[in-house]
Amino acid sequence: MQITLESKPFAGIETEALVSYVFEETDPIQGRVSEIDKLAGGLLGKLAKSGELTGKPLEFTLIHAPAGLKAARLLLVGAGKKEQFNSATLRRIGGAALRYLKARSIKNFALVVREGGATEESAQVVTEGVLTADFEPDKYKTDKKSDKRIESVTIAGYSDSERGRGEKGLAKGRIIADSQNFARDLVNEPSNKMTPTILAQKAEAMAKAAGLSVEILDEKKIAALKMGALLSVAQGSVEPPRMMIITYNPPTAKPGAPVIGLIGKAVTFDTGGISIKPADGMEKMKYDMAGGATMIGVMRALASLKPGVKVICVVPSTENMPGGRAQKPGDIQTAMSGKTIEVLNTDAEGRLILADGVHYAKQLGATHLIDAATLTGAIVVALAGVNVGVFGSDQSFTDKLLASAKAAGERMWQMPMDDEYREFIKGTVADIQNISSGKGAGATIGAMFIKEFTGDSPWIHLDIAGTAWNDDAKPWLAKGPTGVALRTLVHLVMSY
Ligand code: BES
Ligand code: ZN
Ligand code: ZN
Repeated sequence: MQITLESKPFAGIETEALVSYVFEETDPIQGRVSEIDKLAGGLLGKLAKSGELTGKPLEFTLIHAPAGLKAARLLLVGAGKKEQFNSATLRRIGGAALRYLKARSIKNFALVVREGGATEESAQVVTEGVLTADFEPDKYKTDKKSDKRIESVTIAGYSDSERGRGEKGLAKGRIIADSQNFARDLVNEPSNKMTPTILAQKAEAMAKAAGLSVEILDEKKIAALKMGALLSVAQGSVEPPRMMIITYNPPTAKPGAPVIGLIGKAVTFDTGGISIKPADGMEKMKYDMAGGATMIGVMRALASLKPGVKVICVVPSTENMPGGRAQKPGDIQTAMSGKTIEVLNTDAEGRLILADGVHYAKQLGATHLIDAATLTGAIVVALAGVNVGVFGSDQSFTDKLLASAKAAGERMWQMPMDDEYREFIKGTVADIQNISSGKGAGATIGAMFIKEFTGDSPWIHLDIAGTAWNDDAKPWLAKGPTGVALRTLVHLVMSY
C-alpha cells in the first residue's frame, strides 16, 4: 500500500473518499470540519442538528458526492470527547476508516488531520493505523479478502512547512507497522508450516536482510550448552528445537551501557504434552509462539530505526508434544543455570524454555531483560484480551515500560510479584517446581518461575496470552494475530 503526504488544500484533493474526524461536543462542527461544512453548504451542520452526526467513538457518517469537494465521498469518523483524544485514538480512527472503506471496495482515500494536529506523531500513528488495519489473515484462502485492496492512502492537513515532520513520522510508522505485520504473519502460520526449524529460517533471513547478526543453535548445540529445560519440552516431539539469537549492536553503544535482552516464547504448537490439553480450542495453540514472533519483529524494526543501545534477542523454540519420549509429570530437569526443576505439569512449558532463554541472554551480556510470552490462561481470566499482564522485578524499569506502553497506545496492566508467591513454587524433591503447590495467582506464579533465572538483573515479563490473538475482529484490526507489545518494546528501546 502506498502512503503519501499531501499538502494542498483538502477541497482540491481528488480521491475516492476524503476522511476526517469529529469530536463529541455540543457543536461537533468545529475547525477543519467547519471548513468542510462551509464548502458542503452546511450539510454537516444539518446532520449534527438532527442527531445523525454526534462524534461518538467510531461513529461513521458517509456522504456521497459532497458539494464543494473534489472527493467522491466524505467520511466522518467519530473521535469521542476532545479532552480524551490522543494519538492512540487517531491510530484507531485511521485503521477503522481503512477497514470501513475497504469493505466498500474503495481503493484510495485521503485522511485530513485536524487543526493543530499536523505533527510527526500524527503521521506516524495514521500510518501505523492504516497498515496494521490492512493486514488480513487470509493467506490460505483462495477467495481472498485482500482482493479488496486499498491501494493508496494520502495523509492531508499538513502545510508545506509541516511536511518535513509529517514525512518523518510516516517513515517511522511504516517501519513499525511493517514489523508488526511481519510478526503477525509468523503467528498466523499453522504449526505444520511454522516448525521451530522454519521459524529459525525466517528469523535468520530477516536478520540477514536487515543487517543484524544472527546465530541459530540447533539441537546439538542446545544440548552442548546444557539447556536442559528447553530440551525437556522438545524431547516429546520429532521436530528438533531451535534457539535463535539476533543481535543489534550499534557502533555508538558505550562500554558499560545497558544491554537490553529480549526473550520470546516460541512454542510453535502447545498440545500440553503428557498433561494434554482438551481438544476444544486446541487449534489456537499455534499462536503459542507469539512472544518469539514479537521479539523477532522488534529486531526488524530496530535494524531500521537504529537506536543507540545494544539489544540481544533470544528466542527459544520448540513444539510441546506428547510423543513416546516426552517428559512425564514428576520428571526432574536441570536448567542451563544449574537449577533443578520438578516438572509437575508438562503444559507449563513456556516457563521452562524461558528459563534457559533468560539465562542465556544474561550470559551473552544482557543487563536488562524483557520476556514476552503467551504464558498462562490465568492472565486471560484476569485481563481478557484488553490488557497485557506486566510483571517486573525493578519498579523504575517497569515504570519505563508502562510509560512506553501508554505512548505506543497498547494497554498494559501491572500485576503483583510479592516475595510471598515464591513459596508456591518451592520444590519438594528439586529446587523449584513448574506449577504452584497452592491455588490462584496463576499468572504471577508463572512469572515467579521465570524470575528464578534472572538473578539480580532488572527484568520484565509480559504475559500476552490474552492479547496476542483477537478472537473477534475490531473495527481497526482483523481477527487473528495482533502483534501486541511490539510497538511498546520498540518505543522503550528507542527511549534509551
Ligand atoms: N500456552 C499456554 C498458555 C495459554 C493459555 C496461552 C490460553 C493462550 C491461551 C501455556 O503453556 C499453558 O498451558 N499454561 C498453563 C499453565 C498451568 C498448567 C500452570 C495454563 O495456563 O493452563
Ligand atoms: Zn502449555
Ligand atoms: Zn504454552
